[in-house]
Amino acid sequence: MNRTVIRGGLVITAADELHADVLVENGRVAALAAHGTDAAAGWSAEHEIDATGTYVIPGGVDAHTHMEMPFGGTQASDTFETGTRAAAWGGTTTIVDFAIQSKGGSLREGLDAWHAKADGRCAVDYAFHMIMSDVTAASLKEMDALVGEGVTSFKLFTAYPGVFLSDDGQILRAMQQAASNGGLVMTHAENGLAIDVLVEQALARGERDPRHHGEVRNALLEAEATHRVIKLAQVAGAPVYVVHVSAEEAVAELARARDQGLPVFGETCPQYLFLSTDNLAEPDFEGAKYVCSTPLRPREHQAALWRGLRTDDLQVVSTDHCPFCFKGQKELGRNDFSKIPNGMPGVENRMDLLHQAVVDGHISRRRWIEIACAAPARMFGLYPKKGTIAPGADADIVLYDPRAEQTLSAETHHMNVDYSPYEGKKITGRVRTVLSRGVPVIDGGRYTGRAGQGMYVPRATSQYLD
Ligand code: URP
Ligand code: ZN
Ligand code: ZN
Ligand code: ZN
Repeated sequence: MNRTVIRGGLVITAADELHADVLVENGRVAALAAHGTDAAAGWSAEHEIDATGTYVIPGGVDAHTHMEMPFGGTQASDTFETGTRAAAWGGTTTIVDFAIQSKGGSLREGLDAWHAKADGRCAVDYAFHMIMSDVTAASLKEMDALVGEGVTSFKLFTAYPGVFLSDDGQILRAMQQAASNGGLVMTHAENGLAIDVLVEQALARGERDPRHHGEVRNALLEAEATHRVIKLAQVAGAPVYVVHVSAEEAVAELARARDQGLPVFGETCPQYLFLSTDNLAEPDFEGAKYVCSTPLRPREHQAALWRGLRTDDLQVVSTDHCPFCFKGQKELGRNDFSKIPNGMPGVENRMDLLHQAVVDGHISRRRWIEIACAAPARMFGLYPKKGTIAPGADADIVLYDPRAEQTLSAETHHMNVDYSPYEGKKITGRVRTVLSRGVPVIDGGRYTGRAGQGMYVPRATSQYLD
């Protein structure tokens, strides 16, 4: 029996704040008891962790990452090893990454390929969604088997014609299949065909800078595709989860559908909450650092995203972590914004940025844990193993110092990327200790984990519909 007691902290879950000690046995939470009670005093353990002055929170669940993803003629610069280590540094103990079906290939081949990249290399636990880029009778049938073995969500794209785009009929069929097998369809909702027309026209006018990436990916084309996938889901009788929502008009589509009682869910990401088209317009090609899709929006959109997170029109904040180095990767699009690889780093920064949102008054402490831990775990069938601190849960626990000050910087971060989109940003709050299934992986400013300690987690179907 391996026992650890975490004493003296404020335990925060999505549901409660408790002045409680936590007993961990063999990698799982065994019990909670109020400070100073006989029950807590009676626990003996090999390891005692003093959590006085810290928040004791569930490890973060980042439900949207792309480690070593091939894209735009290059590959995301974090491997599963470096990316999950960076996640640990930032208090995230579970990632759900996207395995990719290649055109003409099967879902199985895509899943096998992603296991080959990740297995034995991760510092924290990991699971997979499946990107479907070739919806056929065969791949629709394969969805059932994947749901049965723990890959219970499928991303489909209305964007990237010729690469990932599925047409409306294919999306409808995938949603119908999900309605029958319990899977959850996730959508990248932007009208890719219309965007490609605007890209061509912008380039013909000589508009080549990164800021034009934001202009051609018009907010109305995000709203249109969001509306469309909601209606397709309604016709199919299926739930739908819209990833990386950035436009106020898209939030409005989600809100309207939810007001009708439809099982429609949305995610946004820190880059949309903290950055804007001002960053895309930074001179000397620096704007390329902020090229991702959906794109950053004018600052005015942020209020709608924060409101959505408070009112539950948006349920989850994940990172869409998909880093490309400025040198050699973002530079591929120096003379043509459409050739800049799409994606931004963030897996290490999400818990801190959202704590800053608590400090800034956008959300409450419990809402922080809800959108960063509990909701993604429930949305993707990981709860209550992940996303909370309760008897039986995995002891993925973060001791978070809410008063420590830090400055985000590429000099000090652990992601394998040569810039930080948040360079110089001051954060109040910092991770002190991170346990992954009871084992310290970050301890007093040191990485104490190892590649391969992270385990693959098969998922149940979404618990958000129960
Ligand atoms: O720009 C982004 N978001 N890159 C990652 C791929 C995707 O669409 O999520
Ligand atoms: Zn206390
Ligand atoms: Zn996407
Ligand atoms: Zn993504």
